[in-house]
Amino acid sequence: MTTPPTRWELAGEDNRGYGQHFADLVGRGVDVAGEARLADALVPRGARVVDIGSGMGRVAAALAARGHDVVATEPDPALRAQSLATYADLEVLPHEALALDPGELGTFDLAVLVGNVMIFLAEGTERSVLARVRDLLAPTGRALVGFHLQAVKAGSRTYPAAEFVADAESVGLRVVHRFGSYELHEPVDDYAVWVLARG
Ligand SMILES: C[S@@+](CC[C@H](N)C(=O)[O-])C[C@H]1O[C@@H](n2cnc3c(N)ncnc32)[C@H](O)[C@@H]1O
Repeated sequence: MTTPPTRWELAGEDNRGYGQHFADLVGRGVDVAGEARLADALVPRGARVVDIGSGMGRVAAALAARGHDVVATEPDPALRAQSLATYADLEVLPHEALALDPGELGTFDLAVLVGNVMIFLAEGTERSVLARVRDLLAPTGRALVGFHLQAVKAGSRTYPAAEFVADAESVGLRVVHRFGSYELHEPVDDYAVWVLARG
């Protein structure tokens, strides 16, 4: 399947700092598992979790370390290489979101799209990706999605909260919660953490 280039891909070198930044933090023992702690709280023990756009692996590795069955998937080859270098035991698929096939992978208790994945998707694919997320969820499954609402990073888009909610609802997902952080602060204007469920 041919998919349009993602905003992440188009930004190219402008975003290369992300992976190294987190690898340096991990190397210094800094906690980079905030998103994973919230994800862990959303699922039963030993859950099936798919981390879409797993980047350098920090969230998927933290969830695997908590005993979950994690499918990590990252289309950027440089980030996959970095993930392997940092978390050698974490297998990472090369699929981009629209290439994830529930018929092949099964369904999940939780889909994770954190760290701005939604604002780096290919232009015009937001609803298709959200529809794919829906299809990857078990009937009681949920999605944890977090992103900056303004285009704060090179190549990213501005994605207003109301537009995101309309996109999610158009594909049969509903907003269960919106928070302002992974520590469940109340909603803020510049960043949103969403918990979505099927219809
Ligand atoms: C800032 S990185 C965040 C990585 C990781 N989720 C984290 O929080 O550390 C943004 C990621 O979005 C991914 N991405 C963008 N479009 C994607 C798509 N269509 N499918 C899968 N990943 C995508 C990029 O490859 C990149 O890894």
